[in-house]
Amino acid sequence: MMSLTGIQMKRENTILGIIGGTGFEGVPEFEITRQQVVNTPYGEPSSALYRVSLHGNPSIFLSRHGTGSRIMPHQINYRANIFALRDLGVTDVIAMGAVGGITPQFTTGSLALPDQVIDYTWGREHTFFDNAVDLDIRTRESGHTEFAYPYDHHLRESILNCAKITGIPVIDHGVYGVTQGPRLETAAEIDRMDRDGVDVVGMTAMPEAALARELGMSYATLAMVVNPAAGRSDEPISMESIHQVLENTTDKAHQLLLSLSSVG
Ligand code: HPA
Repeated sequence: MMSLTGIQMKRENTILGIIGGTGFEGVPEFEITRQQVVNTPYGEPSSALYRVSLHGNPSIFLSRHGTGSRIMPHQINYRANIFALRDLGVTDVIAMGAVGGITPQFTTGSLALPDQVIDYTWGREHTFFDNAVDLDIRTRESGHTEFAYPYDHHLRESILNCAKITGIPVIDHGVYGVTQGPRLETAAEIDRMDRDGVDVVGMTAMPEAALARELGMSYATLAMVVNPAAGRSDEPISMESIHQVLENTTDKAHQLLLSLSSVG
């Protein structure tokens, strides 16, 4: 495996946080140096936070759906997860996520780095700017966080650069439509999302991305396309086929993450 230490774009003092999604409960090559149970003013994160070493570079890993029992996308405590990562000093978050492909380029098995989001979720705790807890972050004058471009440009460039050097194909754009779940979509819902300009559909990118922005962290999603979205294939979507695809796709994602030993 090629190590990209010294990649031109490295920024100083970055600490990488990795949020593992479905089928991505860790990276075999991670060397876990410490497991930390963190509590936050918003409650407990989905899992312990693992301090890991990536080619000697410290990073922090969190399992979005928890280890053991599976937390459904609408029940994830996104605020606790993001707060805990920030609390441990994370500056840059790479969020892994399984998605369904809507537009033709996003074929099953591909990896994508979306550049936009449309949020179709509802009822989730989606901001740190409410009255629940009086935190330092509230010293900001306004809760109207700038979010025109939800994914961090520099972080995306770093990932794309690593992809290029390692020869792992990654689609360098895409609109991620976030649905509430846990059920999958109807074919008509997917048609509507297609008309909206959505390329891939998943259930977890929001409010995660917005919360990271509220706390000043850089954030990017590495999406693994694990099925054609509802109505886009003759076969119904099955968890069995998703898991089969994940086995291969996760491997590519692991390699990409390992190559990001210097990120920023
Ligand atoms: N829809 C929503 N979320 C998903 C899908 C899908 O088709 N595949 C993986 N996560």
